[in-house]
Amino acid sequence: MKIFAYSVREDEEKYVEEFRNSNGIVCDYVSEYPSVDNLSLAKGYDAVSIINNVLTKEMYEGWRKLGIKYIATRSVGYDHFDLPLMKELGIRGVHATYSPNAVANFTIMLMLMSCRKMPFMLYKAGCQDFSLPGKIGKELSQCTVGIIGTGQIGETVIKHLHGFGCRILAYSTTEKEEVKKYAQYVDIDTLYKECDVISLHIPGNEKNRHLIDREAIAKMKDDVIFINTARGSVVDSNALIEGLESGKIGFAALDTFEEERGLYYKNLEREQIVNRTRAILSTFQNVILTPHMAFYTEQSTSDMVRTTMLGLRSFESGEASDVVIRELE
Ligand code: COI
Repeated sequence: MKIFAYSVREDEEKYVEEFRNSNGIVCDYVSEYPSVDNLSLAKGYDAVSIINNVLTKEMYEGWRKLGIKYIATRSVGYDHFDLPLMKELGIRGVHATYSPNAVANFTIMLMLMSCRKMPFMLYKAGCQDFSLPGKIGKELSQCTVGIIGTGQIGETVIKHLHGFGCRILAYSTTEKEEVKKYAQYVDIDTLYKECDVISLHIPGNEKNRHLIDREAIAKMKDDVIFINTARGSVVDSNALIEGLESGKIGFAALDTFEEERGLYYKNLEREQIVNRTRAILSTFQNVILTPHMAFYTEQSTSDMVRTTMLGLRSFESGEASDVVIRELE
C-alpha cells in the first residue's frame, strides 16, 4: 500500500515516520494542504491521507485519474467527504479513531469553566479586580447534565462525569447497557427540559443538521449551560446567538461552530477576519470559543496517524477494520 499524506503537521511527523516504509506501508508526505495545484504529488500512490480539508469535485476526479483508490481522513468526523461522489468514482474511504478521553476531558473542562465563569474570572484577575461580584458559580456536582449522543465520546463523558456525582440524562437513537449504569436515557424534550448543562456528542451529518434550533433552545431550562465539542453544523448559530442575547442560554462553550471553515489551524493574527458569527460570539462574556482543538493531545495525534494507515492497509490485506467508512462499502 503506497500512501501519500497531505497537511502533515510537525507534531504528526514522528508518528508518520514510525509507520513509514514498514508494516507493509510506503508513505511519503508534505505539509501543504491538498489543492488542484498539488494533486499530481499523489501520482503512483494507491491512497491519499488528508485531514478535514474540503475537497472539490475536480480534486476527487483528478486523484482518481492518477490511480488513487482510497482516501483517508485523519479525523473521526468525515462530514467533509463527498460520499456520493466518492461512491460514484469507486473511491473507498477510512476515517480515524482515537482515544475518546481527548474530547471527553476537554468537554468536562469546558463544563467546569462554564459553571465557574472562568473566562470572566481570569479576565478580571488580569485587571487586578479580585472582587467577588459577578463571579459566583454553579457546582457541576449539583447539576443535571444532559448528554446528546452516547457513542464512544458521549459514553466516556458520562463515565467520567459520574465521578463528580451529577445526575446524568442521556439521549441517543441507540441505547447502550454500559451507559445505563451511570445515566438515565430519556427522550430529547425531557433532556432539554431538565438539564442545567447540555453537551453534544453526535456526528455532523444531514440528519443532525440544526438539531439545536430556536425550537430546541426554547425547550431548554433558563440559564442553561450549552457545550459543543461535536460539530458546528448541529447548531443553528443564529438561534444560539438569540438564546445568548435573551439570557435563555446562561453560558455557551463552543469548540466548534458552523461557520468556522477557513479559520482554524491557521495563524491569522495579522489578518482581518471576516466572520460575522465569530465576531458576534466573541463579544459575549459568557461564551468560550476554542479553535476546534478538543481532539488535540499526543495520544490522539498518534492514534489519528496509526488508525488511518492501518485502515488503508486493510483494503489490500483483507484485515478487519473498524475505520472503513460504511456508507462507501
Ligand atoms: C475529528 O477528529 O473529527 C475532529 O473533530 C478533529 C479534526 C477536525 C482535526
